[in-house]
Amino acid sequence: MVLEEYNLDRQKALISLYPHQPLRGQSALVTGANSGIGEGCARHLAAAGAAVAVNYVRNPEAAQKIVDDINQSGGKAIAVIADVASEEQVMSMFLTAVAAFGTLDIVVPNAGLQQDSKIEKMTVSQWDLVMNVNLRGQFLCIREAINEFERRGMHDVSKALGKIVCMSSVHEVIPWAGHANYAASKGGVMLMMKSIAQEVSDRKIRVNSIAPGAIATPINRPAWDTVDAESKLLDLIPYNRVGLPDDIGQACVWLASDASDYVVGTTLFVDGGMTLCEGFASGG
Ligand code: BGC
Repeated sequence: MVLEEYNLDRQKALISLYPHQPLRGQSALVTGANSGIGEGCARHLAAAGAAVAVNYVRNPEAAQKIVDDINQSGGKAIAVIADVASEEQVMSMFLTAVAAFGTLDIVVPNAGLQQDSKIEKMTVSQWDLVMNVNLRGQFLCIREAINEFERRGMHDVSKALGKIVCMSSVHEVIPWAGHANYAASKGGVMLMMKSIAQEVSDRKIRVNSIAPGAIATPINRPAWDTVDAESKLLDLIPYNRVGLPDDIGQACVWLASDASDYVVGTTLFVDGGMTLCEGFASGG
């Protein structure tokens, strides 16, 4: 399949999805927002009215392009560099975003990567890199988000003190041979998210996750960019289409908005039914 690139015209078109601007007056930080699912979330949050900090670690041009599209379509955005695995860089990213927007209302710890290997061959650096970005990175961002929500206190833009939308994966529940580090990191995100939600929800902080299925992004390009690969992938997806960053962006806006005010500590699967175990569709 061919993935339609985002550009200024598409950014303007996204705004029409959110005529009531549910996130107006709020500000958001999305990590790993210069491509893929993070980009989709950043663009949709901006289209729904939020000011958005677009985090990146490499490829500043891609981050700047997203920021320019958002600013030129009447929104507000900045680009912020940080490696989410670094405590120091995460803290300075939060300082930058808060200095620019006054506070943060929505944090989307999204940055993630894969380092695939058969388990006998998996190196410690492959294990550590995935854990450090996918799990430690989310922990650091969640901690800083909660500290900022509490520092700022309640204001009248939302019923909640703050909203955190973690980016998990269907692999928080589906085991994935050849990807033990990645599946372990997402399984970790699931219980980290739920434990933190349990800990902070009485302070009016809502913590939830999105578990995307196969979304066409750079992380899994070989799985969808040829006809053969796409048709093999569709065998795993009851809804029979590959997901798009827009699918996740729209879910992210909902989880960040007051429309989901009673949704706490849950994982929203946005996967075209991948977790329904398509292999059993004919009775198993
Ligand atoms: C992975 C993708 C994969 C999808 C479904 C995601 O979390 O990053 O590579 O295509 O799960 O298996």
